[in-house]
Amino acid sequence: MGVQDQYRDYVMTGFVKRIEPVVVDHGEGAKLYDVDGKEYVDCFAGISVTNAGHHNSAILEAAKAQADKIVHACSYVYYVPTVGALAEKLAEVTPGKLQKTFFCNSGAEANEGAMRLAKRYSGRCEFVAIESSFHGRTYATLSITGNSGRKKGGGPYMPGVAFTTTPYCYRCPLGLDEKSCGLACAERVREVVRLHLSGECCAFIAEPVMGEGGIIVPPAGYFKAVKKILEDEGILFIADEVQSGFGRTGKLFAIEHFGVVPDIITMAKGIADGWPLGAFIASAEIADSFQVGDHLSTFGGNPVSCAASLANIDFMQKTDLPGQAAAKGEKLMARFREHADRESLIGEVRGKGLMIGIELVKDRETKTYATAEAGFVRNYCLEHGVLIGVGGNFGSVLRLQPPLVIDDSELDTVFATVAEALEAAHRLAAV
Ligand SMILES: Cc1ncc(COP(=O)(O)O)c(C=O)c1O
Repeated sequence: MGVQDQYRDYVMTGFVKRIEPVVVDHGEGAKLYDVDGKEYVDCFAGISVTNAGHHNSAILEAAKAQADKIVHACSYVYYVPTVGALAEKLAEVTPGKLQKTFFCNSGAEANEGAMRLAKRYSGRCEFVAIESSFHGRTYATLSITGNSGRKKGGGPYMPGVAFTTTPYCYRCPLGLDEKSCGLACAERVREVVRLHLSGECCAFIAEPVMGEGGIIVPPAGYFKAVKKILEDEGILFIADEVQSGFGRTGKLFAIEHFGVVPDIITMAKGIADGWPLGAFIASAEIADSFQVGDHLSTFGGNPVSCAASLANIDFMQKTDLPGQAAAKGEKLMARFREHADRESLIGEVRGKGLMIGIELVKDRETKTYATAEAGFVRNYCLEHGVLIGVGGNFGSVLRLQPPLVIDDSELDTVFATVAEALEAAHRLAAV
């Protein structure tokens, strides 16, 4: 029985079968190979996970060495040295006074735990999230996700959640102009807290750069303005860095671009270059509102994943991987922006570092979503050896999120293939 048949018959699936998926065999750096030996430039990194590259030998060696000693002991029942070491390291590399970490297995679990911690600390129980956001597929995290496409079939959702306006300048939901809006989208947070909740708001949760929503970068002053409102209202700020963290945007954590220190940061994906691990970190004051045994995860803080994560962070620091992502991303975005002069399907090229979105539109005036064209471009790229993602509420944004170790010639291939695909999609649309 082939793997496709096994998937069809035996895997309960959220599998995205809009395209015939690659049957993966192995990876190396920013390259993936299928079982027939076909080579792909991986420009999606397993949904923004393998930031330090596939088969990174330093990380692999660290994980193997740990696996040779012990694979699992339950890090909440015994002292596990890699857990202690990673927690200390995260305190060192995260901004401000963030100090104590809880380890779990995934991004959703990290957000869920952070929400519980915020409730525990504040004694309150309501949340403000952002429209078009994505925070995971558990009940609480879908409740704070602002996209009905992701939520269907799971409701009714948790009460006590209100959504504020997306800080999305290309399609400002308030119909304002970025140059003269006075950051009205930030001010909207205050209105939402006061008008849509019942005075019990404990936290605002946001992705510093929104991933699934279509690589939306809030305007420069957004988080500073929001943080001021949150402080006025006594509300915590949870930064969901699950997708934007670990060098992806050109800083170790994307919130560093905005000069704001969150009260809690959640992380997963790029934390261990592919080993499953999630975490959230808070100041000692906030973290200590959890009593011993309050929150636990059997696999959380797996010793092998933690060893991989330590080596991952070490690799990022030694090679200045965030700096590399910043430089490579700027160059790639500049090429696509220049290309937009010749390719009218490109509505906007945006992003930070190697978290890049190319929003496609059928018409630049009306900004009609070019959903079919984006799907076509992704399929064309796959057939021609480049793996990219698609996002946005209407699936009209191409997502380029490669391993940050991607080299110049691989970036040339990505640019040339996407440009070729756009031309083909443009021709298709014209027929
Ligand atoms: C910003 C953000 N938060 C949370 C999650 C959920 O992470 P996981 O799939 O590891 O549960 C994702 C996944 O895409 C994400 O992008």
